[in-house]
Amino acid sequence: MVKVLAVLYKGGQHAKDEPRMYGCLENELGIREWLESQGHTYVTTDSKEGPDSVLDREIVDAEIVITTPFHPGYITRERIEKAKNLKLLVTAGVGSDHIDLTAANERKITVAEVTGSNVTSVAEHVVMTILALVRNFVPAHEQIVNNEWDVAAAAKNSFDVEGKVIATIGAGRIGQRVLKRLIAFDPKELLYYDYQALSPELEKELNVRRVDSLEELVAQADVVTVNCPLHESTYGLVNKDLLAKFKKGAWLINTARGAICVKEDVAAALKSGHIRGYGGDVWFPQPAPANHPWRDMRNPYGGGNAMTPHISGTSIDAQIRYAQGAKNIIETFLKGSKDYRPQDLILIDGHYATRAYGADKKTK
Ligand code: NAI
Repeated sequence: MVKVLAVLYKGGQHAKDEPRMYGCLENELGIREWLESQGHTYVTTDSKEGPDSVLDREIVDAEIVITTPFHPGYITRERIEKAKNLKLLVTAGVGSDHIDLTAANERKITVAEVTGSNVTSVAEHVVMTILALVRNFVPAHEQIVNNEWDVAAAAKNSFDVEGKVIATIGAGRIGQRVLKRLIAFDPKELLYYDYQALSPELEKELNVRRVDSLEELVAQADVVTVNCPLHESTYGLVNKDLLAKFKKGAWLINTARGAICVKEDVAAALKSGHIRGYGGDVWFPQPAPANHPWRDMRNPYGGGNAMTPHISGTSIDAQIRYAQGAKNIIETFLKGSKDYRPQDLILIDGHYATRAYGADKKTK
């Protein structure tokens, strides 16, 4: 019989209000009955920080560990080393950077995520954030709840998306969906930067032009959206050197991972007005500490902050999909099979099964 451990965020009353919120601790991805009816043990917790956490205590004999990017149980080398029975790490969602993938590969632990489960949810959030920033929505809305009325104060930093150059760093599932949705806004041009080129047919369909150099991409863009995974070569990618290459007054949206952007450098660029706005929902670490500079950073006009907690990929629709997808992955493992959906596999048999996190020799 197998021990399964899941690290999930607390839902409290909200979990009762909305039982389809499968991603939270109380609703446990909806798999307790299914696992226990087969005699397996299922331990769930939100306690993930420090050596006395439930995650640290329970991981030692767990065979399957489920985590989510929303409340990441960081699966470090140290935790992998003490998890003697660990064979499968499941990310309920998309993005497995909270796992030490090198350490997992060394132990031949399979890492699988529910690829595609929330990519439309994130793409919608990206388009919403572009609109919120470019139209200067947040400061205008704050006026209303603060019982103020000053059209000029909000209008002086409000523009149209139409006619702007919009660029994505990463043109995978989310990047492509963002581009597709942006076509309707009649941008001046859509650009992308990715070491994996899109086919000429897809470039035509998405009306997008590839730019080989990241510096040249950001220098041309009014709006930059980050849609690549966090790995060795994207950690700290958007730093003060790259930000200096941005057009003055550009907007930056990052729903990929917090650590792709250097937090102090982004806050300084916003404060100086070099970038007009920053928005997204990903932070490092998560939950974000009270003194994280992205909580209260503002541009010189007092706006330009469109941050939310990590919600873009955890809409109710997304939760239904990633809970089902996590169950499918576990079911395959429990059958003793390796017949996973190929696109869900990040690591298998000691090597990468995807090129999205960089590549090793055996990666196709
Ligand atoms: P995907 O694997 O379909 O696409 C990622 C693309 O990024 C690939 O085309 C890859 O070649 C490219 N890429 C990798 N390194 C790059 C680099 N250095 N420069 C430029 N491009 C690079 O992944 P998908 O589904 O589009 O998700 C992307 C990321 O979005 C995830 O890894 C995750 O970190 C994040 N995400 C965030 C969510 C949220 O709730 N905020 C939910 C889902 C995903």
